[in-house]
Amino acid sequence: MTIHIGAAKGDMAETVLMPGDPYRAKWAAETFLEDAKLVNEVRGMLGYTGTWNGHRVSIQGSGMGMPSLSIYANELIRDYGAKTLIRIGSCGGMQDKVKLRDVILAMTATTLNSPSSGIFRELNFAPCADWGLLQAAAQAAAKRGAGTHIGGIYSSDVFYDERPDLNEQMVRHGILGVEMEAAELYTLAARHGCRALAVLTVSDHLGTGEALPSDQRERSFGDMVEIALEAAFG
Ligand code: ADE
Repeated sequence: MTIHIGAAKGDMAETVLMPGDPYRAKWAAETFLEDAKLVNEVRGMLGYTGTWNGHRVSIQGSGMGMPSLSIYANELIRDYGAKTLIRIGSCGGMQDKVKLRDVILAMTATTLNSPSSGIFRELNFAPCADWGLLQAAAQAAAKRGAGTHIGGIYSSDVFYDERPDLNEQMVRHGILGVEMEAAELYTLAARHGCRALAVLTVSDHLGTGEALPSDQRERSFGDMVEIALEAAFG
């Protein structure tokens, strides 16, 4: 048990999928895992542990934004011994070639500010995905025929951004999409010798203003969960 996670020590698996939304953790656990058991409900940030193809796996909500993810990822790594952490979540598309429902595998995560920024001072640390996970996820995505993009994303620390010029620079520099968690996850994984990846579904597009209606999200979110599971155990 930690400050934010009520699970007993052995209740969390070494491999953890981390959606931002706790209800998505519930849906993914009930849909994809066998023998899924609720192991955490502190603050409603639901976490489940079960098996997938015989492999033990947990699905723990991270909440929105890097400060929230940082709390859960730190406790999962330091107190529960998590070794592989895969964010599964949504993002806003930034390039014309990126379409709604496409999957983005985040090779790098650029950020202006994260909970880890303070320790780097004037250094610009480059948070990046674990190569083995990225490669396995790319193979899993190719097998499914899902529209997939692999490259850099932007982990923003504000959703209602008053500085649209930053998004413009990201678009100019080929950044595929924007979300709010991966850079801190990659940085924590690097610090603690863990593997991390973000598998993202494009739920809206900054250029076109389109957004997926919530009832149409499930199928594409399902692809993302299966890609993450295959990457973790492939
Ligand atoms: N997550 C999903 N869409 C997003 C957006 N447009 N900006 C930041 N995070 C997001």
